Amino acid sequence: MTNNDLIKKAETVLNNNFKEDKGFTIPCEGLYPFQWNWDSGFIAVGFAHYDANKAKREVEALLSAQWENGFIPHIIFHNDSDTYFPGPEFHQSKLHPLASKSHRTTGMTQPPVLGFVLKEMYDIIEDKADILNFIKQNIDKVFNNHQHFYTHRDPNQEGLVFIYHNWESGTDNSPIWDDIWDTMDPPNYKFERRDTTHVDAAQRPTNREYDYYLHLIEIAKAHNYDEAKIAELSPFLVQDPLFNAMLIKSNAALIELYELIGDSEDKIKTLRQWQTKAITRFNEKLFNEKLGAYVHYDLRNEKQIEFLSSSSFAPIFADIPNEERAEIIVKTMMDKFGSEDRYLCASFDPDSDRFNPKKYWRGPVWINLNWLLFKGLKSYGFYDIANRVKDDSVQLIERYGFYEYFDSRKSVKENAGYGGNNFSWSAALLIDLLKC
Ligand code: GLC
Repeated sequence: MTNNDLIKKAETVLNNNFKEDKGFTIPCEGLYPFQWNWDSGFIAVGFAHYDANKAKREVEALLSAQWENGFIPHIIFHNDSDTYFPGPEFHQSKLHPLASKSHRTTGMTQPPVLGFVLKEMYDIIEDKADILNFIKQNIDKVFNNHQHFYTHRDPNQEGLVFIYHNWESGTDNSPIWDDIWDTMDPPNYKFERRDTTHVDAAQRPTNREYDYYLHLIEIAKAHNYDEAKIAELSPFLVQDPLFNAMLIKSNAALIELYELIGDSEDKIKTLRQWQTKAITRFNEKLFNEKLGAYVHYDLRNEKQIEFLSSSSFAPIFADIPNEERAEIIVKTMMDKFGSEDRYLCASFDPDSDRFNPKKYWRGPVWINLNWLLFKGLKSYGFYDIANRVKDDSVQLIERYGFYEYFDSRKSVKENAGYGGNNFSWSAALLIDLLKC
């Protein structure tokens, strides 16, 4: 298939998932029928290449549900659907006094990609005056979102923000969380799963894992989603290297965009202060010498979570390591994840007994992480490895389709695409990969 044919297919996936009446794109039919936060950011990058209007509407639809305190939720329930659990009745975001009055949402967030997405849109869209005007109308909302993070999600005031739920990480059922689940003993909730009616249960979390997920939400709800209470009480309190890298990259993008706009000295100064503090602390606290990469930090139990995952390498997307450290983490990535019989980049350490090549974030390759790694590797001059990440991503999609995630083992030659099909960010980021 030519690249142009692939791009046309990707555009069809995106166009079919776009909901014209509300102006947003579902991640995929059935499995994910609403608007998801970081999905929308990646989707907007794809649209920017061929339909600037849809890219702008996507971002606007997400921001239309921003809370009065700057918080941007992880799912916006613009529409009704009975194909997904847990829906708006479960989350009850309106328990929080500053929750969106106009939209039903969840009371948790996702990796803050919007800042760098606006910068990507600026770089891609040809009509610079128009896109800059759009950015001017929206950039303060993203700034307010970052301010919210640093005010309410950083109890030590150290420049690193916490997540209180695995669904906030975006890497929803990574084995990273297993030790945290061992510290909890939630009730056996009565609920009806919907995901396993769309996708083989072997590729999804277990029912017991759902008990943990629901329990964390119940704790937050019991305190009306008050983040100070969550910081005090949630058994899940993690400083995630992927999440914090997204925030840092978005800070950097906001600085560049405010400079383009002009007349925003105070905000630039604040952003620079956040950056210096965040990058310094990130390197001190989240680097693991023994593993040769970044790891998650369990803030509740005050210890590093010593496992390698694709999140361990994502900081190269945000200019966080110095050159020497970048060499170390790329070497770790290639030694552990990069053998010739594997596609880059598995989401979890293939040598670990927790690795599962078919299950969600416990091993498969995800296109959004590959996209971040590709960009990061290129920016540090690792061109060959960057190209391998790109070629592997394109090959997987070309062979198996626009799946949500893929088997990293090259020995699996059929049906190696898993999870949802016609998945929006796989389509959107493929377009971007092929155009850069
Ligand atoms: C899955 C992923 C999450 C994504 C969501 C919608 O839950 O783990 O990162 O945002 O699907 O696509």
